[in-house]
Amino acid sequence: MTTKITNVIKVSLAHLGEEELEEVRSAFEYGYFGLAYNVDEFETQVGKYIGAKHVVATNTGTSALHVAIDVLGLQPGDEVIVPSLTFVASFQAITAVGAIPVPCDVDTDTLCMDPKDVEKRITSKTKVLMPIHYGGYPCDMSALIDLKEKHELRIIEDAAHAFGSTYRGEMIGSFGDITCFSFGSQKNITCGEGGAIVSNDEEFDNLCRQKRLLGMERKSHSSSSWKERSWMYDVPVQGYRYHMSNINAGIGLAQLKKIDSFLTRRREMCEKYDSALKNIPGIRFRKVDYSTIGPHIYVIRILNNRRDDLKRFLMERDIETGVSFIPNHFHSFYNNENVSLPETEQAFKEIISLPLHCGLSDANIDDIIECVTEFFNS
Ligand SMILES: Cc1ncc(COP(=O)(O)O)c(C=O)c1O
Repeated sequence: MTTKITNVIKVSLAHLGEEELEEVRSAFEYGYFGLAYNVDEFETQVGKYIGAKHVVATNTGTSALHVAIDVLGLQPGDEVIVPSLTFVASFQAITAVGAIPVPCDVDTDTLCMDPKDVEKRITSKTKVLMPIHYGGYPCDMSALIDLKEKHELRIIEDAAHAFGSTYRGEMIGSFGDITCFSFGSQKNITCGEGGAIVSNDEEFDNLCRQKRLLGMERKSHSSSSWKERSWMYDVPVQGYRYHMSNINAGIGLAQLKKIDSFLTRRREMCEKYDSALKNIPGIRFRKVDYSTIGPHIYVIRILNNRRDDLKRFLMERDIETGVSFIPNHFHSFYNNENVSLPETEQAFKEIISLPLHCGLSDANIDDIIECVTEFFNS
């Protein structure tokens, strides 16, 4: 029961059904929409799915990143190395604590953070590396973990795109330092809006819990008896109103039950695009093995300055496409004339995302492939 907003084939869309509606109805009937039972359950189920000890659910992926950076105690002037080719949310979370995002380049084949370029940018002020698992494909974590250890840094993985992805057989979120997910409306699973901070560190987890709820320190909100619930609390730290709501967590729980079929379908669509388009010389493909990841977007590169023409051509045929992302060093707030990121800047001229969501039928994918092929034949 996915509602189509228009006749346009959307580049991305949540796939929702009666199960999600039922969860919303039941949270509605409960009458308390804040931090309640569904949030606890969502955290437990996400932890089980990933194989991680600690999960803190937040209201967005951006707030998950912000809290994670804040809990690490970054000070104004501390540096975080982050690919420029990411959604501005990653950058905003860094500058929200006064830290400095140091944009780095991406690997030409995967469009993920390039560890060689990262190493060149490490200074005495560098505190954190923030890899972005672009489109769901994991960065070269082995090389980044080596850098983390060599230079005594922390890693916050921005895994907004990578819920359900694996790296060398291990789930993203299960082996890293700190991992942040997004459950926004177009992600691999959605809560409507939502995010999560995942770690295996109890002390870090406790601080994240405190900060996502206005810095309040009190007994569990989910005590089995209202009479036992402590009404006393202290506020020992700066915090934020960032907790996930009971309604959003309910939607997430229904979605989590469908994750296997969602990811299977997303992989199928990516592989179908790859094999149908692979002989078109004007397209460059990412070197991505879709079978091991939860693909969030399907990105190809259009050569010879034809990306915008293809985008227009497809839109005229009611096919929406995306460009993920405008490099952040191009934005006025983050502009730095001394930054040169050749791979990122070249990629930005070429990348286009074709529609990828579970509401697409095989016939839709065939139509899209046919239109892309027609463009290159014309
Ligand atoms: C790479 C990346 N990081 C972070 C976010 C932020 O997530 P949210 O929209 O849930 O705040 C997004 C959202 O699309 C994203 O693409």
